[in-house]
Amino acid sequence: MTVLNRFFVTTPIYYVNDKPHIGHAYTSIAADFLARFHRLAGRDSFFLTGTDEHGTKIAETAAAAGKTPQALCDEVVEQYRGTWRTLGLSNDYFVRTTDARHVAAVQKLLTVLNGATAPNGREAVYAGVYEGLYCTGCEKFITESDLVDGMCPDHKMPPTPLKEKNYFFRLQPYLAILKEMVEKNELVILPDERRREVLGLLTTGLPDFSISRESEKWGIPLPFDPTQTAYVWIDALPNYISAIGYGDDPQQFDRWWNKAEVVHLMAKDILKFHTIYWPAMLMAAGLKLPDRIFIHGFFTINGEKMGKSLGNMIDPRKMAEIYGADATRYLLLNQYPFGVDGDVKEREFATKYNSDLANDLGNLVSRVAKMMIQYCDGVIPAPRADVPGQNEVMEMAVDLPDAVYNHVCNFRITEAIAGAMNLVRATNKFIEDAAPWKLAKNGQQETVGGVLYTAGELLRIASILLYPIMPEKVREIRSVFGLEDKNLTLDSARTWFNLPHGNRVTLKESIFPRLDAKAIPMLVPPKAEPVTVDLVSFDDFGRVSLRVARVIAAERVPKADKLLKLQIDLGDEKRQIIAGIAQQYAPEEMIGKSIIVVANLQPATIRGIESRGMLLAAKNGGTLRLLTVDGDIPPGASIG
Ligand code: MSP
Repeated sequence: MTVLNRFFVTTPIYYVNDKPHIGHAYTSIAADFLARFHRLAGRDSFFLTGTDEHGTKIAETAAAAGKTPQALCDEVVEQYRGTWRTLGLSNDYFVRTTDARHVAAVQKLLTVLNGATAPNGREAVYAGVYEGLYCTGCEKFITESDLVDGMCPDHKMPPTPLKEKNYFFRLQPYLAILKEMVEKNELVILPDERRREVLGLLTTGLPDFSISRESEKWGIPLPFDPTQTAYVWIDALPNYISAIGYGDDPQQFDRWWNKAEVVHLMAKDILKFHTIYWPAMLMAAGLKLPDRIFIHGFFTINGEKMGKSLGNMIDPRKMAEIYGADATRYLLLNQYPFGVDGDVKEREFATKYNSDLANDLGNLVSRVAKMMIQYCDGVIPAPRADVPGQNEVMEMAVDLPDAVYNHVCNFRITEAIAGAMNLVRATNKFIEDAAPWKLAKNGQQETVGGVLYTAGELLRIASILLYPIMPEKVREIRSVFGLEDKNLTLDSARTWFNLPHGNRVTLKESIFPRLDAKAIPMLVPPKAEPVTVDLVSFDDFGRVSLRVARVIAAERVPKADKLLKLQIDLGDEKRQIIAGIAQQYAPEEMIGKSIIVVANLQPATIRGIESRGMLLAAKNGGTLRLLTVDGDIPPGASIG
């Protein structure tokens, strides 16, 4: 394969029925990493991402929220844009399928497809009737055999039966051609496991697929039959060409589609659309196919599938608030090897942050800078040839930029980052072994300078290799040594003695402050403990008198940080109770609340204070919430 000096990388365009989560962020950060690394290597790169805004799923979400679909899209798209800004994505374009430019390009493509002849001499697009079960969660037809207990296994909802006129794309005649292209690696599908899966699908055969819907109105009308709306996937896939001028800028399109290496990135959930339907559509339209399609793994969170109902979808912006944007990028891409399925364990975020970023990298920066300040008058010292251990560590570093870039070219993102981090660790070891503080004590001032120069030089090389994963932090690191952005190139990492001696060293604060793992709020709430109870009879329950009470006064119990003393009105009497809620509720918040109490509990003395009754609250781990009465129920009313 000839490697074109232009690189075009895409992410899937994400549905706007909900705000982004770390699954979306994972693909986007990976694409950003690739684009930034190829730019470092001098390849002209274009990074595309965007949002998928049409179709039943979006229309239904909007209707449920009492909004127009466009209003919902306009709101959620800002969440995506904002999140990508927070995470420092360097996308060159953001495509929305509701953009007029995209709509026009899709209509142009549909017109071309409608006029195309399939390899078997028949028309590529034809009208027919579709009858089947449709899952709006997947935005696709599913078969009876896909269902589990009558529901879509992925979305846990029953599919809707549909029978309507549709236009179809004649897929059959393209399958054999596509199979040959995949076999010959003219269309590269990676990793190999996914390539085999695709070859399997191409061998067993797939039915023609429908490209329009009669019943769905939220979408792009077919140019040759406006009573039909383009099927959301047929609308979405062409984003990869609409964004680079298929409809309106032939020069730009030629530059980024025909004369660039085109790479699509995604997870396996949408493999069939990208590796079969999309290439077949491109062939029918007489367009070149993408060069490589990389399907990375799908991850679970703390061992569970991510889902809204499980409440475990982590908002990347919340994660960035705790760890910082660059550490979020690093932590997400380092949980498991890129390309296989994995699990993201929240409790490992802080551990990995502290070990890799605070200890290995952050400390290295402070150490080198502080010693240059202490031993070298705050400037980068001159290099020396006779530094102990220098040759060994240089030997490791000399081939590293190319080795790391080779990983990048082959989508081994985790290995690429590990390569750069190994250099950081080797530099720490080099300093430990050379022990400049000892040399300083022995009066070997020039060797101290030599050791620190080499350490700084290794750190400079590491900074370049780490730039694509942590761009902002790397800029901070480089500014400590007065390094200029224009030297953020792979060539500069390949060149030795590029650290400019004489530069002033300025260290303001630590680059990655250590985190106290225990003080970090959990992003995925802990699950409620399963409660096991003995069964009680109706009569047993009837013996407990539950009543509404209004809080009249509340104060803290001295020297008991968990207790509040409450005066309550039970309608026919006033009482005092002691409640263990002082860490969750301030006394003044309690006044006026209508709470629920067990009124016939035996009186008790707590910390020398009498308590006659017990209030009810829900507990989950450290969280506690009072049971209160909603509406106008007077104190004393009984609960049944
Ligand atoms: N709109 C379609 C894509 C159209 S592209 C022409 C869609 N959108 S999506 O919002 O559901 O995004 C799916 C993609 O999000 C996955 O392919 C993957 O890139 C990313 N991920 C979502 N959850 C993920 C994980 N749990 N793990 C890894 N990637 C995840 O499908």
